[in-house]
Amino acid sequence: MPHEVADLLEAYPLLDPDSVDLKQIDYDVDVLVIGGGGAGTVAALWANESGIPADRILIATKLRHGDSNSVMAQGGIQAADKESDSPAIHFLDVMGGGHFANDPELVRALVRDAPMIIHWHERLGVMYDKEPDGTMVTIHGGGTSRKRMHSAKDYTGLEIMRVLRDEARCRGIPVVEFAPAVELLTDRKGQVAGAILWNLETEQYLVVRAKATVLATGGWGRLHIQGFPTTNHYGATADGLVLAYRVGARLRDLDSVQYHPTGAAFPEQIVGLLITEKVRGLGAQPVNRDGELFVHPLEPRDVEAGAFIRECASKKAGGREMGVVTPTGMVGVWLDTPMIDIIHGEGTFKKNLAGIFRLYSRFGIDPTRDPILVYPTLHYQNGGVAIDASGWTGVPGLFAGGEVEGGVHGKNRLMGNSLLDYNVFGRRAGISAAEWAKRVKLGALTLAHVERYIEALREAGVPEDRKAPLLLPDYRGERALARMVDLL
Ligand code: FUM
Repeated sequence: MPHEVADLLEAYPLLDPDSVDLKQIDYDVDVLVIGGGGAGTVAALWANESGIPADRILIATKLRHGDSNSVMAQGGIQAADKESDSPAIHFLDVMGGGHFANDPELVRALVRDAPMIIHWHERLGVMYDKEPDGTMVTIHGGGTSRKRMHSAKDYTGLEIMRVLRDEARCRGIPVVEFAPAVELLTDRKGQVAGAILWNLETEQYLVVRAKATVLATGGWGRLHIQGFPTTNHYGATADGLVLAYRVGARLRDLDSVQYHPTGAAFPEQIVGLLITEKVRGLGAQPVNRDGELFVHPLEPRDVEAGAFIRECASKKAGGREMGVVTPTGMVGVWLDTPMIDIIHGEGTFKKNLAGIFRLYSRFGIDPTRDPILVYPTLHYQNGGVAIDASGWTGVPGLFAGGEVEGGVHGKNRLMGNSLLDYNVFGRRAGISAAEWAKRVKLGALTLAHVERYIEALREAGVPEDRKAPLLLPDYRGERALARMVDLL
């Protein structure tokens, strides 16, 4: 795994286990959902749907409800719901994209549930793009052999999350915000029995006792692995991996980091931000400084991103670099965005890629007239906490859904399968957690696994100043503030 992740796994807890009074319980619930993004919200909704009353569920989230990569997703969600397609074809695409390292049972669940998820969204009120006759607009993504990408312009994630969050609010599911989980709790039998939260505002610990716990903390995009910029939201600091590992869950495919091929490379203010794959799905081509198409525009992501990086590093006869160097020293390749209106007619870009159009307009760049510069950017955690098809981690009482879990995507996720993943496995984890909560009996709460972990770290000679979970990225707080104060 990347050393940035290993350093977090081999790190001491933020809390001293002796400093928390586990008899002082702040929240006592049936189902605790850790994470207020897409997976967490879906898990809470389906726990409720499965018979757990809203006020016996708690969503605990590090920032605000909805602050997550789920909201920032642009391009779409895959579902094989057209006549020319089938879940079996979707299955083959996912397995091939993941280099056949995926858990086939998880992929089966992903593709089978997909059409049902789209119907569920529609019933709740998600407004997907449609043809005038009411059929869904679907296009290709990288590595898809059928057009099965459903979208809401280029803010699909925001549109889905708008509706899911409203639904959770309408049902009265309680949410505690600015309260990241810093440790899981177990009982004496080793069943996960809730978590300790850290109130970022009051700087106090909160003890949550829960019969079942769903981990939905997202991924690691803010670790800037290998120094890359990122598309990810502020809270993506791998906290769930740390918590799950300490309590004995199995992690998988952590060697596999996803770099999205098209991060913005210019202007400087938006370096690393996502330029959705939908731009290539609609016909834009990646070309080098000589205007040559050097790779198929819609290869699976790892192949596409690798080709971009190689092209930028390669030199033609005469020693000329093939990447384009920006005024601030970045390098990138052209994404020939004007092709979209040339292929589909004037106004297509503005209509379908409204967010990207607005983003570039702020800098006086019109992507319908001029190509834009792009370079790969850190995007996704392909692996994570191992689960089975029900969303169970193998640790009694602990379930997981969304980017924190691994196995669905093997060594490389295809576009549009992350929104699908968090819906499918958020739902399955929520249902499984509800069923578990109905039958489990909890004993007294402990942090024994944390104490054991501290001992193991000491024996291994791990430096004691290394702490995890990180909670917020490094460029925050005192150091950043000190720099600003210095400037003043
Ligand atoms: O390119 C995109 O819109 C990203 C989608 C995804 O990661 O699934």
